[in-house]
Amino acid sequence: MKRLIIFASGTGSNFAALAAHYAASPLAQIVALVCDHADAPVLAKAEAAGIPTLTVDYKAYPTKRAAEQAIVAMLPPADLLILAGFMRIIGPTLLAAYPDRIINLHPALLPSFPGRTGIEDAYAYGVKVTGVTVHVVDAGIDSGRILAQVPVAVLPHMSCADLATAIHAVEHRLLPTTVDRLIEEGAI
Ligand code: GAR
Repeated sequence: MKRLIIFASGTGSNFAALAAHYAASPLAQIVALVCDHADAPVLAKAEAAGIPTLTVDYKAYPTKRAAEQAIVAMLPPADLLILAGFMRIIGPTLLAAYPDRIINLHPALLPSFPGRTGIEDAYAYGVKVTGVTVHVVDAGIDSGRILAQVPVAVLPHMSCADLATAIHAVEHRLLPTTVDRLIEEGAI
């Protein structure tokens, strides 16, 4: 049984999808949630699911390095770290502690529309197809090796909110199935 740690910053709908999926999976269990905002709704979702939480106030540390050193020291053993709506760039300390063992969910078809507002940027650009990417985290911004992508059509009548709803529905399926595939292939 693989051990997963989820990192999230806000709503946590992807955390909830992962928690539901792995509550009954023989492949893996979620052993902790790391959150960087004390008032993020994802924390209540983890508590309701009985998953231990670790809230990290980055501002309480002098540097990102110090904050990441504290995280590394506090985390339980894990096979994979999953960024599911974690709105921070991972620094060299966490990358070195979990080499090739951190993956990220992004709400666009990378390398298009990296960054924090992938859905809004794709909508504003006027693309007819956008989508969802799961990739390995490296030192760049949304630049690591792509593990999975699913396209989402931007239909003529869609508002940006409609597009976000469609993207999230795809995310909630793609992230657990990608993690399952990594486990089944022996990649983690
Ligand atoms: C998701 O759409 C995820 O792809 C995005 O944040 C959202 C979190 O939603 N991540 C990024 O934009 C990372 N650059 P959630 O809190 O409901 O899971």
